[in-house]
Amino acid sequence: MAYDSAEKILERIKDIRWAHPIDLGHGVMQREWHVRRRFERRLKLLQIPENLKGWTVLDIGAWDGYFSFECERRGADRVLAIDTYAWDTPHGMDGFLAAREILGSKVEYKRIDVHDISPAEIGKFDLVLFFGVLYHLRNPLIGLERIASITKKLLICETHVLLPFIHERHALIPFFPGDEETRGQFYDLCAIPTLECLKQMLLAAGFKHLDVKYTPSFRYWKKFVALVRNLPQSGRGIIHAKF
Ligand SMILES: C[S@@+](CC[C@H](N)C(=O)[O-])C[C@H]1O[C@@H](n2cnc3c(N)ncnc32)[C@H](O)[C@@H]1O
Repeated sequence: MAYDSAEKILERIKDIRWAHPIDLGHGVMQREWHVRRRFERRLKLLQIPENLKGWTVLDIGAWDGYFSFECERRGADRVLAIDTYAWDTPHGMDGFLAAREILGSKVEYKRIDVHDISPAEIGKFDLVLFFGVLYHLRNPLIGLERIASITKKLLICETHVLLPFIHERHALIPFFPGDEETRGQFYDLCAIPTLECLKQMLLAAGFKHLDVKYTPSFRYWKKFVALVRNLPQSGRGIIHAKF
């Protein structure tokens, strides 16, 4: 079906709950203005190469596929989107599949856990996007080792990083059993590493060159909050990692 009018698009997506602010064309945009603005800002901060002609891309934890479709738009030769938990819930893949259909996208997709990826399972990719997934993992270092094994040129890793009142310069990460093992128990902090810990984990996973693109904003204010609440806070960290 050709989605050549807003009416046809709106009819196709009428029961879908979106996580990502995807532009479906004909003026049909998802999510509220502030979410759209946040994603536009993220795109600037992440510094994904503008021209991806000749690149293959893996988007880990793709969810509705905002970044997968963006890489396709930037000319990537091939994009593979993978995910587990969000896609495993009832209707969890509806947004991704509808956007793919409406956009006439060729983005490939596979339900696989990042702990299970390997060159044999999915091949290798020039560019790997790993946004907002690390702190969900039971085994973040194993996840990064798996990612190193399938990355050819560049990994872009975006995660919450830990902001304790003091000791931020140490390689700290809280215990977290992984999303699938919380068994209803609440954890104040997930597997959120300090920036120093993230750097050391990336090096331990085999990456050789790290370029820190972003460190948390309002850092000193958050440290003050950490002191008052007696609880580490967090902020955004972005690292480009190469071999
Ligand atoms: C916070 S969302 C981030 C989504 C998207 N990457 C972004 O930055 O907007 C985390 C995503 O990671 C996925 N995820 C969590 N654990 C995963 C795992 N072990 N392997 C693959 N995907 C995972 C979730 O299902 C969810 O879609």
